[in-house]
Amino acid sequence: MMRLDKFLADHGCGTRSEVKKSIRRHEVSVNGSTDVRAEQHIDPENDVITFLGEEIVYQKYVYLMLHKPAGCISATSGNTETVMDYIAEPYKDLFPCGRLDKDTEGLLLITNDGPLAHELLSPKKGIEKEYFVRYANDLSPADIEKAGQGIVYQKEAYKPARITEVKDHTCHIIITEGRFHEIKQIFAALGNEVLYLKRLRMKNLKLDENLAPGEYRYLSEEEINDLREGC
Ligand code: URA
Repeated sequence: MMRLDKFLADHGCGTRSEVKKSIRRHEVSVNGSTDVRAEQHIDPENDVITFLGEEIVYQKYVYLMLHKPAGCISATSGNTETVMDYIAEPYKDLFPCGRLDKDTEGLLLITNDGPLAHELLSPKKGIEKEYFVRYANDLSPADIEKAGQGIVYQKEAYKPARITEVKDHTCHIIITEGRFHEIKQIFAALGNEVLYLKRLRMKNLKLDENLAPGEYRYLSEEEINDLREGC
């Protein structure tokens, strides 16, 4: 059960105060009646809710793609800026699926689908994450080979990482774990340094290049189904 105004706001019908006005204007119906109140509780799985004559189909989970800018942390609260500061109402109670470093940019899934997030982050699943890297020193074929074999650095063992598209001190790197500072550590192990890092892809979900840093959009039905595949 949930409040009618929250249900409407969660389904993109407007802010809480906008939907309250719509309710007063009788633009909302519950099981055929427009004699409804914002604070009344509805059963989203069984009640039929319409907004401006259109049925609002219940969606349990919300999936947003954020182009994370540098300078914010991947957490829901903190005494510094967080990724959730970029997300407007009514999606403030979602959470980021995984973590990017404060200075890392790029693809971050923001959702309330805990079970899917858990699957995507599970080390056992080996979900691919692809990044664009700009680095300080030349990267040799031997370095690429070493990263591809898996590296041990400061007593930590990193799984094989595939480096491609090497040119002008930039490359792509694909990792299948999500260890703390993983790519920075791999480059440090090679005597190199990451200068800029941007996540481009997680599993088959690609960063939408139309999103400027700080912008987000809903995932499409197809993107959600692709993410769920095998989970
Ligand atoms: N590896 C890193 O070093 N940092 C990130 O933010 C992600 C992967």
